[in-house]
Amino acid sequence: MEAKLSEASRRVTPSPIQELSKLSQRVGAINLAEGFPDFPAPAHLKAAAAAAIAADHNQYRHVQGICDILAETMRRDHGLDVDPLTDFAICCGQSEAFSAAIFAIIDQGDEVLIFDPAFETYQTCIELARGVPVYVPLDPPSWTLNEDKFLKSFTNRTKAVVLNSPHNPTGKVFGKEELLIIAQACKKMDCFVITDEVYEYITYDENKHISLASLPGMQDRTIITSSLSKTYSVTGWRIGWACAPANIASAIRNIHVKLTDSAPAPFQEAALVALTSTPDFYSSLKKDYTVRRDYILQTLTDFGLRISFKPQGSIFVFAEISRSWQLSDMDFVTNLITSAGVAAVPGRGFFHTGTDDPSYHHRYVRFAFCKSDDTLKAAAQRMQKLAGSEAWMRPDVLTRPHH
Ligand SMILES: Cc1ncc(COP(=O)(O)O)c(C=O)c1O
Repeated sequence: MEAKLSEASRRVTPSPIQELSKLSQRVGAINLAEGFPDFPAPAHLKAAAAAAIAADHNQYRHVQGICDILAETMRRDHGLDVDPLTDFAICCGQSEAFSAAIFAIIDQGDEVLIFDPAFETYQTCIELARGVPVYVPLDPPSWTLNEDKFLKSFTNRTKAVVLNSPHNPTGKVFGKEELLIIAQACKKMDCFVITDEVYEYITYDENKHISLASLPGMQDRTIITSSLSKTYSVTGWRIGWACAPANIASAIRNIHVKLTDSAPAPFQEAALVALTSTPDFYSSLKKDYTVRRDYILQTLTDFGLRISFKPQGSIFVFAEISRSWQLSDMDFVTNLITSAGVAAVPGRGFFHTGTDDPSYHHRYVRFAFCKSDDTLKAAAQRMQKLAGSEAWMRPDVLTRPHH
């Protein structure tokens, strides 16, 4: 019956990167590949979730209090006037909120602009909805929005722009000027924007997260998506949301009900506690992540990787492999796993657009630093040892190149 599988399912096949993930599990590598924390979730959240289970919150559920708190937060942080009764869909993570939003607005052949490099799941969702992803390259080394390339990417089929800021994989936080360019174009071309703001509270130095919806004239056409996953270190709880003007939110809610019916009931209850965390919680979050970021930057620099862009937000460093090493991203990561027992993600999986320099997509490696001090220290020690031995550069250690 395999021949009868849908065309869409055939496109969603494991990538070579997933093969590396298997290799890393086989050798028991330290996981700096995937973007989930290996440290405990905050104790007050775990207690709230346990209490919700004890109180028998076991059935389908919509916890309106989440929308009430989020509406308040959006007013406080972004000056947005949001109706908690009509403007939200509580979903199973940002992932489901994003899918439901895409299904709510995309018809066959509609084009959706995505900045490149990009988090991989957007493309799959858009294709499942029979839309067409159109990638707009950001300019390295600082992943700057290129206004000309962006404006030229619009056609009369462009239905939406996806904006992920703070950004996976680069750690870029889009600045006010760039957001104004995006806003102006979307208004002119009468497009939606779907934002992915899962790293909204994880920003560094003087960088501030600005929600695109807060720019003049943008709230009407913006679907904000976010979740508890990253801010509260609970990626497995699967609580997220979409926030949009009432008629759009209603369409998203209707689709969400058919997709999953409701997000996990006990974790919705715990979300009430998470979302009312004190300001101290958010300042510690930034402080702790800044220490982790600086530690991994030092580790990677000592190892000889180039940090051409210091993360402004998110939990990732997109490090560059020196040209003189003559290693592709796949070779580098394969060697790092097999010789040092440390796993990262080859950058090529995040790129979708062509370039004049074909080697450029094969020069980046993404490291996730949402890991405990012990994990980061152990990874640093292993990498230090490897760098000292220089074994990883020897041809006999090099595995078959992947090109
Ligand atoms: C940019 C981005 N958006 C969304 C997600 C997934 O969010 P959620 O767990 O809320 O589905 C991730 C997870 O890595 C991510 O990096």
